[in-house]
Amino acid sequence: MLKLHNLAEHQQRINHFLAEQVSTLANKNIIHDEKLLAAMNYGLLIGGKRMRPYLVYITGETLGIAENTLDTIAGALECIHAYSLLHDDLPAMDDDDLRRGNPTCHIEYDEATAILAGDSLQTLAFDILANHPMDNVSANIRIKLIQQLANASGYQGMCGGQALDLSATNKDITLDQLEALHQQKTGALLKACVLMVAQCHEKITPLDIKNLTIFAQHVGLAYQVRDDIIDITSSEKELGKPAGSDLAANKSTYPALLGLQGAQQKAEQLYQQALQALGNLPYNTQKLADFATFIINRKN
Ligand code: IPE
Ligand code: IPE
Ligand code: MG
Ligand code: MG
Ligand code: MG
Repeated sequence: MLKLHNLAEHQQRINHFLAEQVSTLANKNIIHDEKLLAAMNYGLLIGGKRMRPYLVYITGETLGIAENTLDTIAGALECIHAYSLLHDDLPAMDDDDLRRGNPTCHIEYDEATAILAGDSLQTLAFDILANHPMDNVSANIRIKLIQQLANASGYQGMCGGQALDLSATNKDITLDQLEALHQQKTGALLKACVLMVAQCHEKITPLDIKNLTIFAQHVGLAYQVRDDIIDITSSEKELGKPAGSDLAANKSTYPALLGLQGAQQKAEQLYQQALQALGNLPYNTQKLADFATFIINRKN
C-alpha cells in the first residue's frame, strides 16, 4: 500500500490546530456547558484519518500557499466534516453506534448533545474561517472562501446530499442520480479542499482552476465510491465503524447498483480521469496523484 508523503506530520499539525481552537472556546469567560464541550472534543479530536486536511496541505504545497492559510482552511473543513459525521450517525439518519473506533457521539453522550455538538462544530468552522490569520489573503478572498465553504456544506452540498441519500434509501435510483447524490454529500467538501486553496493563489489561471476542479471532482466522488466498497469488504475493526451498515439499511450505493467489481471499476475510471486532469497542470502534482492512488485503494 502506497504511503502518503508526510501524512503523520500533517495529521499532527491539524490535530494540534483543532485542539487549540476548542481550547480557545473552553477558555472563554462564559458559563460553560461541560457536556457540550466534551462532546465537541470527542467528535472532533478523537480519531479520524484527516484526509480533507491532508488534501488541503498538499494542494497548498503544490501551489505555494502560506501555512497559516492552510491551517485555517483545513481546520474549517475538518470541523464541517466532523459535524457531518455526528449527525450522519444519529438514529434519525444512519443510526450507527460506532465511529472512529469508539461509540458514536449520541451513544457516548445523548442525542440532543450530539446534535448540538454538531451544530457548534459547524459554527466553529465558520468562526475559524472568518477570524484565523491567513497570510497574503485579502478580506475579499476571505469572503469568497466563506461562500465556498457555505456552498459545499449546505443545501447545494453536503446537507443536500445527505437528504438525497435518505430519500434514496429502500429505493431504486439511477446511476446518474447516485452520482449526483455522492457528489453532493461527499464530493462537495473534498472539492472545496482543493478549490478553497486554489482561491488563495493570486496568479492561478482559469485553465488551471478548471483542471484542479476536474481532479477534485473525480477524487471526491471516488472517495465515496470507495467508502461504499469498504463498507462491504473491510471489517468493523479495520473501519472503526460498523461493517455492512449500508446493506443493513438498504442504502443506494455503488456496489448495490453495479456490484463490487463494477464499483471498483468505477473508482478506477474516476482515478484515471483525475490523473489526466493533473497531467494538464504546470505544477509538480505528484502528491496529488499519490493521494488519488491512496484513496481508491484504502481499506478504512
Ligand atoms: C467518512 O469519511 C464519511 C464519508 C464522507 C465518506 P472519512 O472516511 O474521511 O472518515 P474519518 O474522518 O477518517 O473518520
Ligand atoms: C456519509 O456517508 C457522508 C457524510 C456527509 C457524513 P456515509 O453515511 O456512507 O458515511 P459513513 O460510512 O457513515 O462514514
Ligand atoms: Mg450516511
Ligand atoms: Mg453513515
Ligand atoms: Mg459509508
